[in-house]
Amino acid sequence: MKIPIAKTVFTEEEYKCILKPLETGWVVQGPLVSKFEELWNSFTGAKHSVAVTSCTTALHLSLAAMDIKAGDEVIIPSLTWVATANAVESLGAKPVFCDIEFQTFNICTDKIEKLITKNTKAIIPVHLFGLSADMDKIMEIAKAHKLSVVEDAACGFASKYKGRHVGNFGDTGCFSFHPRKAITTGEGGMITTNNDELVKKLRAMRDHGAVISDHERHLSGKPYLLPDFPYLGFNYRMTDIQASIGCTQMARAEQIYEKRNIIAGKYDKFINENIPWLKIPFRNNEYRHGFQAYVCLFEPEKINEKNIEEINKKRNDFMDYLQSNGISTRPGTHAVHMLSYYKNKYNLNSWNYLNSYIAYYCSIAFPLFPSLTDEEFYYIAEKIKDYKN
Ligand SMILES: Cc1ncc(COP(=O)(O)O)c(C=O)c1O
Repeated sequence: MKIPIAKTVFTEEEYKCILKPLETGWVVQGPLVSKFEELWNSFTGAKHSVAVTSCTTALHLSLAAMDIKAGDEVIIPSLTWVATANAVESLGAKPVFCDIEFQTFNICTDKIEKLITKNTKAIIPVHLFGLSADMDKIMEIAKAHKLSVVEDAACGFASKYKGRHVGNFGDTGCFSFHPRKAITTGEGGMITTNNDELVKKLRAMRDHGAVISDHERHLSGKPYLLPDFPYLGFNYRMTDIQASIGCTQMARAEQIYEKRNIIAGKYDKFINENIPWLKIPFRNNEYRHGFQAYVCLFEPEKINEKNIEEINKKRNDFMDYLQSNGISTRPGTHAVHMLSYYKNKYNLNSWNYLNSYIAYYCSIAFPLFPSLTDEEFYYIAEKIKDYKN
């Protein structure tokens, strides 16, 4: 048997829906992009959604629209996909790493305030693997220090915090539609915001800075009049081909979440009952985990500075064993402060953010996708159970 870590399954309707924009000829930031944005508003409860080309560009655009620039500092968790840091760095600002909490893999809110300086402009909490960061605490800190908040909700599809969908707490929320995510348009991203002024700037800046989009201009009676470009913008426009797939997937959004949640529940039960050396993802009533990924901590014994390399080796042996049995796994994600660019530029070492280091070296994500069959699940469970640690 061969079981991938994630699997993209497109339905018959998704195959067909691609033809729609091809037939109309409106293939970029047109009616289907607007429809996808409306559907995203309904799903998340956000007032505005702005479709872009990826979560990376969503983060970059959000920060640029907030005038983050050289000399500014932005606090981000040290455990996240590198794109969170790259978005800050590419504006010439400095990403300031904050360690995570073990229980949730998310930014440790108790450590944020110590990192705030006169140059701090924003915080980017990441809802890692689909679990919301502690947004009440983060918003309280941001308010007290007058900081902007950009939620990195790349993995945040269907994730809720105290009943509200993520992406509704900060100034903006940034989502990803990469194939490793629950909804995919190939590449793609979405920004949510409840700010009526900011959204105008985001819409303009995704389209070279133009205050009127091509589609609006063509629909107006005077399509020959070009708009003003008051901002330095980018080309972060989503295509209608992508948006068409997005719209079609939104029709089964709740079903996609439900299936992921059911599979996560099966893993929880199996691991809790049989595998004491794996720690399952955090759940509690105030958080609805979206399960972009099912990530456990591989913990055959308490992990500390002394045994981390040895446990990392054991985890890798376990991953090797599963791979040789056809089961794909991955580390949860990487600790950005350990990647060469950041390590060298900011003179960091692994120990600076110990929890992130441990989470990087000792976490393991198991296959999770809606079409995972019972047969596949039991095969994975059997192989994990048979493993001699
Ligand atoms: C936490 C996080 N932020 C940002 C990104 C970047 O998303 P995209 O690939 O859509 O640019 C990812 C992608 O994996 C991610 O996991």
